[in-house]
Amino acid sequence: MSTSPVLSALIAATVVALAGGVTAQRAGSGRVTFSEHVAPIVYGNCVTCHRAGEQAPFPLITYEDVSKRAKLIAKVTQSRFMPPWHAVHGYGDFRDERGLTDAQIATIRDWVAGGLVRGPAARMPALPQFTEGWQLGQPDLVLEMSDAYPVPASGPDVYRNFVLPTGLESDVWVRAVEFRPGTRQVVHHALFQYIRGGAAASLVSKDGQPGFSGPMPVALVPGFAPAGEMGLWSVGATPRALPDGLAWPLPKGSDLVLQLHLHPTGKPETERAKVGIFFAKGAPDRKIREMGVPGLFGLLSGLDIPPGEKNFTITGTLTMPADMLALSVTAHAHYLGKSFKATAALPDGTTQPLLWIRDWDFNWQDRYVYKEPVRLPKGTRIDVSITYDNSAENPHNPCTPPRRVQWGMQSTDEMGGVRFQMVPADAAAETALQENLLPGIRAGLQRAAQSEEAKAAGKRYADQQARFRDAAAGAVPLSACGSAPER
Ligand code: HEC
Repeated sequence: MSTSPVLSALIAATVVALAGGVTAQRAGSGRVTFSEHVAPIVYGNCVTCHRAGEQAPFPLITYEDVSKRAKLIAKVTQSRFMPPWHAVHGYGDFRDERGLTDAQIATIRDWVAGGLVRGPAARMPALPQFTEGWQLGQPDLVLEMSDAYPVPASGPDVYRNFVLPTGLESDVWVRAVEFRPGTRQVVHHALFQYIRGGAAASLVSKDGQPGFSGPMPVALVPGFAPAGEMGLWSVGATPRALPDGLAWPLPKGSDLVLQLHLHPTGKPETERAKVGIFFAKGAPDRKIREMGVPGLFGLLSGLDIPPGEKNFTITGTLTMPADMLALSVTAHAHYLGKSFKATAALPDGTTQPLLWIRDWDFNWQDRYVYKEPVRLPKGTRIDVSITYDNSAENPHNPCTPPRRVQWGMQSTDEMGGVRFQMVPADAAAETALQENLLPGIRAGLQRAAQSEEAKAAGKRYADQQARFRDAAAGAVPLSACGSAPER
């Protein structure tokens, strides 16, 4: 008896559907189990943060750990809230990208739907090995905060700068900075910057606590010069040295300024972090440069966001003055930031995606490291656009009701920039850069410092500091909302 064409089409369709089903249920055992299917996903994608002593709020190591929260895990993996990764996959090619495949998400979902089957114990994968202590070996210089900083049990996140004298008697070059938080659970991210020794002395301990407050880019404060940046640490980051032959300068007698973003955990904590500094053998032939688009974190980009505005946009461009290589990229805005897009238009007419963040979250200040340095020949134009949501619907909006927000140093003010870590492509490009770019940058900075915008931002900051002092003295109630005056 021959099968009718309709029937064979049906059979074929069924076979295809079954094959799909078999894939989802993992061929062989026929059902999804923890030890065989789920544990490998969790160990490969979650335990760097979800283990004892790390920043995530609970471990995900044992069957009990994971099955207890199975529904929530299925939900946050489905929505791609976990593992955290805010760059759009495929828009720029980054190292250590976090993310689950559709198949992995389906496996977790099927395991939950199938009743959380434990599976054979013998099939459990080995826990990944984690190096205790310094990950990059013994640092050449270890700096530690002189006092522990008390982090309250609750309240808003704290941004605090700590000054760690280096005591260096000669200029050095730095190839890596490794950060070790004292209390992992409270530290969300850390920025490393150096300033002239003693330059911040008048700011320290005004409120009787170690350090001084504010999410302040100290490397940009003219009174702190010579000053510069030496990278950042964020939750889940793998410490890395700079690529071979590159180094940051660290002048003798500098102070390291450690800027910590501290997140209350529900109980009182203290934080006393250590920083390990690894010296390079000598001076690099090319210098690393942080290039922000727009420059100065958007100081001169017209950042003045009316209350209720859902889609306020600023843009910036930067044209490469020499052949450059982009090593990594970070984005920066505060609570109203919504999206970032950075693209390069190359002289040959092609475009190169550099970074796209669609769901900016101030809590995840990642540095995205390109798998291969991105070549940006002389004349390449980088275009950046950044959007902000100052409506009441933005769940991160710190002000209820929303109010006018302008550029400023406090996290309730705004800033905006996409910052590229770049090096000249070769020694000739380094020379061209020194000759063409640096004088322009210096002139630009001087112009910016004289600008009405900078003066106004400085005045708002001073007024706000005065209000903080009055509030501390009990004179007036303190509003945590932005420092811009009402229109
Ligand atoms: C880079 C570090 C990191 C990685 C990797 C990571 N998490 Fe998380 N996870 C966190 C942090 C931090 C929080 C707390 C988030 C918060 O409070 O906003 C969290 C929270 C959670 C929550 C609670 C969410 C809620 O709404 O309360 C779940 C569930 C979770 N993670 C599951 C996972 C799973 C499953 C993976 C792997 C597929 C994973 N995480 C990977 C850092 C991480």
